[in-house]
Amino acid sequence: MEDERNLEKSLALFAEAGDCIFSLVQLYDEGSGEHVTGKYPRFIQSGKGAHIWDLDGNEYIDFDMGLGPIILGYCYEAVDKAVTGQLAQGMHFSLVSPQEVEYARMLQKHIPCADKVRFFKTGSSACEAAIRTARAYTGKKHVIRGAFHGWHEWTIAAEGVRQGGILPEVRQYIHRCAYNALEQFEEVFAKYPGQVAAVIIEPMIIEEPKDNFLTNLQDLCRHNGAVLIFDEVVTGFRFGSGGAQRLLGVTPDLAVFGKGAANGLPLSFICGKKEILDEVDKEVYFFTTFGSERLSLAAGMAVLRELENKNVTEKIWAIGSELKTNVNEMARRLGTRIALLGPAPRLVFTFWDRQGRFDLQLKNIFMQECIKRGVFLGWTVFPCFSHTQEDIATALTVFEEALKICQKYQNAGDSAAAAWLSWGRKQ
Ligand SMILES: Cc1ncc(COP(=O)(O)O)c(C=O)c1O
Repeated sequence: MEDERNLEKSLALFAEAGDCIFSLVQLYDEGSGEHVTGKYPRFIQSGKGAHIWDLDGNEYIDFDMGLGPIILGYCYEAVDKAVTGQLAQGMHFSLVSPQEVEYARMLQKHIPCADKVRFFKTGSSACEAAIRTARAYTGKKHVIRGAFHGWHEWTIAAEGVRQGGILPEVRQYIHRCAYNALEQFEEVFAKYPGQVAAVIIEPMIIEEPKDNFLTNLQDLCRHNGAVLIFDEVVTGFRFGSGGAQRLLGVTPDLAVFGKGAANGLPLSFICGKKEILDEVDKEVYFFTTFGSERLSLAAGMAVLRELENKNVTEKIWAIGSELKTNVNEMARRLGTRIALLGPAPRLVFTFWDRQGRFDLQLKNIFMQECIKRGVFLGWTVFPCFSHTQEDIATALTVFEEALKICQKYQNAGDSAAAAWLSWGRKQ
């Protein structure tokens, strides 16, 4: 199964891309820190089902799925048909599209907090709209945020990297708290009494909510007059048609969806309680030319119909569980410092050293051995509806071979790491 792949075209184009593409990646997760530099392909040419082909014609089973959005599969017939059907009638016009109403009605049915909906193109812009709504509604400035909510200034101001161009005064209003650490949220509320406009978090990332974290957080927000926003950009339709909020039984005031909404077309939205959205309707400004672009709306409706009519959600959870159970059993049996963590639709490989710290070398070796054998991994392992039993069996064989090599590396000791990376960060 191991195979040295020819990546000539991919690497040559990547070298050229440096001359004309700023920063070279669309999403930070695509960066060279994520995909080990060297033999990892740099460009994907096409995809079908859960498989992708790089620029040099090499085929891979993909688990990165367009960085999350592909929940049904590449070139998925029902979505492609809906898009081409709409294409024949026009992509975009100057009035609100009837599809907005039809899709919004569908979303109302599925998403508990979705009394009203408004469409955007990216998760970042929908998050921005949610924060602006919360600030307008409460008249307060401070925001408590979770792990990641896109690239806009209000949220990136709380990161430790790439702070160029951010107004320093924005930083005082944004506070980061960790999932499940209710006491951290309480501290911020105590430090800024009556000043917190919103808490925005992902309803679930890797850990499950502990000790009624979400309901306690909701109570904390209510008690302090803050708006609770769930960022469902990743969990959205991947966890089910009602998002993680329906699954976990906690309805936020506002929510934001993106990535998986249209199986790869750019579509995101803010949705939320009528009393909040109606109250700020005449005050907030978030209008955008392509908000009612129709190919994405057609794709969004096709995705939701597939979720309604097929066992998409069950299959995504089942595939993820199968991967997680088997990988963790193999990793334990082989004694590797590797585990596959998280909820089944959104898994993350973790790699740790003898001291329990993140081990980049171990990760690179694992990634290297997987890509050589035709399994494409990114930051997250995203199962999709089109992964077949054969794909899963192949991937598990690859993971086992990669784990065995990682086991040898671990036994050889850290100083031998360079020898195990036949390529990589040296380049
Ligand atoms: C949880 C979450 N929120 C927001 C965003 C931003 O979405 P986008 O990249 O579409 O702007 C992302 C992107 O990865 C995300 O993971």
